[in-house]
This record gives sequence, C-alpha cells and structure tokens, in this order.
Amino acid sequence: MKIGVFDSGLGGLTVVRELRRLCSSEEIIYLGDTARVPYGIRSDQVVQQYAHECATFLLKQQVDIVVVACNTVSAVAIEQLKLDFTVPVFGVIEPGAEEAVRISEGKPIGVLGTFATVESGAYGRAIVKLGSKQVLESQAAPLLVPLVEEGWIAGEVPRQVIRRYLEPLLRKNIRALILGCTHYPLLKELIEAELKQLSKTPVTVVDSGIALAENLRQYIQNGTPGALEEVTGEPITGRGKLSVYVTDTPRRFKTLAEKFLGEQIGNIEAIKLV
Ligand code: DGL
Repeated sequence: MKIGVFDSGLGGLTVVRELRRLCSSEEIIYLGDTARVPYGIRSDQVVQQYAHECATFLLKQQVDIVVVACNTVSAVAIEQLKLDFTVPVFGVIEPGAEEAVRISEGKPIGVLGTFATVESGAYGRAIVKLGSKQVLESQAAPLLVPLVEEGWIAGEVPRQVIRRYLEPLLRKNIRALILGCTHYPLLKELIEAELKQLSKTPVTVVDSGIALAENLRQYIQNGTPGALEEVTGEPITGRGKLSVYVTDTPRRFKTLAEKFLGEQIGNIEAIKLV
C-alpha cells in the first residue's frame, strides 16, 4: 500500500517515524509544506486551501490513502478533505481522542496544541462523538514549536515553558494529556518528567501520532480502522520505501527532518504546489 502523509512542515515526520515502526513494509510518500509553515496561526479557510493542495499533490503520486499528520489540518480541514477526495483520509484527532478516553477512566483529559487546534474544539467534539461525557481542558502552547525547531528539547528553558502550559491543566485534575501537535513528541520525556513532579496523581501522555499509526496498522491488516482496542502482535516487518518532498528548503531543514524522523533521509526533493 502507498501511504501519502502530509504536514505543514517537517514535524509530521514524527508521525512517519511511528508509521515506519508499526507499518514498516508500506511505501510512504511524505510532503512537508515548509514554504508555508506554520499553519497553526492561520485562518481555517487558508488551512483548508493549503490542505487541499497538499492532498492533491499526494494523489498525483498515486497514493492509496492520505494521512494528515498535522493536528491543525486534522482539526479544521479534514471533513472538507474527506468530501473532496475519494481515497480514505486519516487524521490524528480521532485516534488521539480515543486513546485518551480509553486510558483516563472518565476523568478530565488535557490537550496541548496550536491556537488553531485549540480554538477549533476538534478534540472535544471527537470525545463527545465517542459517547464520552469527559471534560476536556485545552491549552494552546505556541512556544513549544519554535523550541523544538531550535533543538531546545532539554534543560531549564523548555522545562519552564512546559511548566507554565501544564499548570492550568493540572489544576483541573487531568488524568491523560494529549500531545496535540506534531512537534511535541520530541518533548515527551520532559513533559512526562514535569507531570511527575507537578501532579499528585499520575497523568498519562497520549501521542496522537502513535495512536494514528496503531489505527492505520489495523486498517492495513484488517481493512477497518481499529477503534478502542489495543494493538497486539508483532509489528509488520520490513522497511518500505520513503520519499520526502518539501515546498521549500529552508536552512537546516535536513538536520531538522532527520531529528523528527529519527533516522537519516537519503534525498529530499523540493517541489512547487501552485
Ligand atoms: N504541524 C502543526 C500541528 O501539528 C504544528 C506546526 C504548525 O503550526 O504548522 O498542529
């Protein structure tokens, strides 16, 4: 199966990393819209237009499914993409929400994301759609994206920033915390350490990218997206081809891409979308 994945930039490679771990024999075509990142501060209308252009490019590469790695696009544009294209379109919101509901025993859930993701209310809607009455506490965490891009994923500065974003959520006694942005998995260790320090009760971190990859793995194996069950069994073995496309080659983009992906990338091709 040919899986097309896109994101506003290179952060979506954290989702590709999980796909290569859990669906490792599948071919992946990745598009990072590096010329127009960030999407998280833009209007819904503009994000929808950009998302349509990214998906159109992937479909020209004859992908069988489209994976929206970007939380912002998943939050404000996925319904439109599902209407515009006939191939299955997967986003990160529903799998992340499902996993959070599954592990949080009816207690409040927290989410960190971009302004667009938080303002969309998409995670809250996904929780309601699951039939859950759980409270969702949302926190926009705009400083985390530049910190990750700068490579500041450990130490006092990111720790202080994370603390500021976590405190309001912890006052609401959250039991699970969704990492609602492609960049945050790189801060997962630090976030978990802070949660341990600050919270009296354990808070489990949910990586939406992992939840999506687990869902997709079930879809590929059974032909249906896996809902609330936990994935069991060995990961599919092998290493499918990975092609990476970007809309600009900004400074340090290869180093950054490899950091998100967690492996070296042979070739990154620059393309024009419009
Ligand atoms: N990829 C975006 C997300 O997951 C983060 C970066 C951006 O704002 O474009 O929401």
